[in-house]
This record gives sequence, structure tokens and C-alpha cells, in this order.
Amino acid sequence: LKSALFTGVKIFTGKEIIKKGFILIENGVIKKVGVGRADWHVGKQVDNFQSFENKNFMFIPGFVNAHAHSGMAFLRGAGGDRTFEEWLFKEITPREAKLDAEAVYISAILSQMEMARNGITAFCDMYFHSDQICKAVSEFGMRASITRGLLDKGGENGRLEENLKLFDHWNNAGNGLIKVGFGPHSPYMCSREYLKLIAKTALELNSFVNIHIRESEKEKEMYSIEELADTGIFNVRCLVAHGVYIKEKEMDILNKDTVHIIHNPSSNLILANGIAPIPQFRRKGINTALGTDSVASNNTLDIWREMLLSALIHKGNLKDPTVISASDAFEMATLGGAQALGFEDTGLIGEGYKADLALINLDSSHYFPENDLISNLVYSGRSSDVIGTMVEGEWIYYFGKYPKIDERKVIKKAKEKFQQLFC
Ligand code: NI
Repeated sequence: LKSALFTGVKIFTGKEIIKKGFILIENGVIKKVGVGRADWHVGKQVDNFQSFENKNFMFIPGFVNAHAHSGMAFLRGAGGDRTFEEWLFKEITPREAKLDAEAVYISAILSQMEMARNGITAFCDMYFHSDQICKAVSEFGMRASITRGLLDKGGENGRLEENLKLFDHWNNAGNGLIKVGFGPHSPYMCSREYLKLIAKTALELNSFVNIHIRESEKEKEMYSIEELADTGIFNVRCLVAHGVYIKEKEMDILNKDTVHIIHNPSSNLILANGIAPIPQFRRKGINTALGTDSVASNNTLDIWREMLLSALIHKGNLKDPTVISASDAFEMATLGGAQALGFEDTGLIGEGYKADLALINLDSSHYFPENDLISNLVYSGRSSDVIGTMVEGEWIYYFGKYPKIDERKVIKKAKEKFQQLFC
């Protein structure tokens, strides 16, 4: 598609609502957004003209899943209702040892199918066999920031070398749709020297770091935020997943333009790790974004649920209904994520922005009446309202279909692979 004109459609640009307007896309970039019927196009040559005049459809900026492990699709539901340590070391790690390159590739396609169906246009990933994830992303057509999970406790085993190869081969692939960064798993899996080397490498390559920090309460005793700052990881763009146990004083260390906090409310709740102090991070002016984490600790890649939870749990937790508003939650799910991933020309619908969009069907009783459309989206909306998801002007999901892949073939291959590995 790449170029198109959509008219007769509602638009929530991320800043304002246009009750009836149009979006003109040229070469994957939004050329014009406006109010009214786009009469200027009459008599002119326009590619792919589509009117939604008789529908109640709305374009919104595509959602960003800023923390995911897309290679874990085969582990959905494994080890539920366990403690964090039992879940990670007794249930997840042994299963992960069985995953081969093909399993990770199929998982990454399945995960993108699930994300696209939920209106997600971009995600940030940490896993292994990351070359397979890049391959799956380039075929499916999503925007993604991909990192190789790194750890040196128990031996480095050339993972950083592998991450560097991944960078050389895949960074900026697909005309910049794919960015490669570095994924030190966590401060308890990585030595300080190793983190230093990773930070230096990422900085030199103008890349980024993706790390889990203070996910569980135990980590408070395991390392300090000060010593992490000394490694330099916060001097390069750094996606900090979780940040559940970070005190006010430590937030000041993280209060830099380079640091982005990724809130994963479902994962933190399901593993009983607690509730991250997201309102406090936001009050400091630190960018916050949303992530689903993997299907092994969620167990969906449904960003709508994360958006709803992030708008609900802090109100209850702090007994204050104003701490995270519906538009705050929506912003975290879109623009906040786009900024964390470093895709500066995404996250909003506006001239010059990439056409990364989700199309929502508002023709449902749960959207009536439209007293407040943002409130409706966050508190009443659900992922099944998504009818189309577009990355750079190309549909990756449209009316129940995935234009770029053979869905039936993927499901068949996934079933066979699961049988082979786990049954
Ligand atoms: Ni994670």
C-alpha cells in the first residue's frame, strides 16, 4: 500500500480528537491530517482512496509494546501461580533450554500475529536466537528494537559477540524498521565489568541498552542503583523494565533523558512482584512506557490490558484517582513507548510522522455514548475492537487477516514444533 487516502474517519492523533477527518499517506509517511471531507482531492490522482463515511471507525497511533520476549510463545501458561524464583528457575529456564532456532522463529511470528491483532505496531525484544527474531520481524513487517539477552554469571559464552554480529547484520534493516540494541538480562545475571563493557559498546555504536532492573523485592539487597550508574548503562539510551523497587532518592539517579521506565503491570501482578511507582517516576519527568513482558508471565500480548491496569492499579494503590489519567495511560502505550524505542517519528498522528496506525471500530454498544472518547478507549475499549494495524503505510493486520504471512501454515508449523519439543 504505502500510499493511501482515508476519509470519513475519526482520528485521535494522540493529542486531539478529530470527529470526522482524513489522513493522507505517501510512501509510508503521513502527509496530511485534517478535518472534513478532504474535498481537495476531488479530480486529483490519489492512490488507494478509501472512505469510511458510513462507519464509525477511528484511527489512533499504533501501540508500542516496550518490553517483550517474542521468542517465548511456546511457554504461555507454563508455571503459573508460582513464586518468581520458582517460575523463573524451575519452570521457565528448563523449557527455554529446549527451544531451538526454528522454535524461536515460529514464536516470533506467533507473537507478532497476536500483537498486530491488538493494534501494536512496534515492540522491544530481549531473547536468544535473535537473528531468527529479526528474520521473523522483517517478514511480518513490524517495527522493532531487538536485543540479544546477555549474561556472564556462569560464563559469558560469546553472547556479546553474537549481539555485535546481530547489530552488524540487522541494525537499520527494512529501511530502519529494525533497530538492534544490547540486552544485559539484569544486574544479578551480569557482573559490573560486563555491564561496563556493554554500556561502552552501545554508546560507541549509538545504540541502546534493554535491561530488567528491580523486578523483585529481593533485588533491593543484591545491588544498588548507584553502582549501576557507575557502569555507564544510564548514559546511553536505556530501557529499564519493571523498576518496581526503586526509591525516591534512586529515581533522581535515573532522572535523565536517556532513561525510560517500562511498566509491565500484568507481569508484576501475576508473579506477585508488586506495583511499580509509576506516578512518582512520571512526576519526576522520567519517560514511562508500557510492556506486556512475555506470555509466560502475562499470559497475553494484549497492550489494552496493560493500559487499563496502569490506569487502575495506581489509583487504588495510592487512593488518588488523578495519579494516572486515561490520557496518561494512552500516552504511555503509544508516544512513551515510541520515545523509549527511539523511533522519534512515530507515536503520534501528524504530518511527517510514520504511518504506524491502528484502526478501531467504535460501532459497538460499549462505546456509546461518546461523552469522552479517550475514557472510552482506555476504560471500555478492548483489543477485539482493532480492525486494522498498519506499519509505515502497510497493513500487517486487516479485518481478521495477516496480509504478509500464511496464518494457517504458521499455526500448523507451530503445533508440529510444540509436539516435537514438549510432548
Ligand atoms: Ni522481561
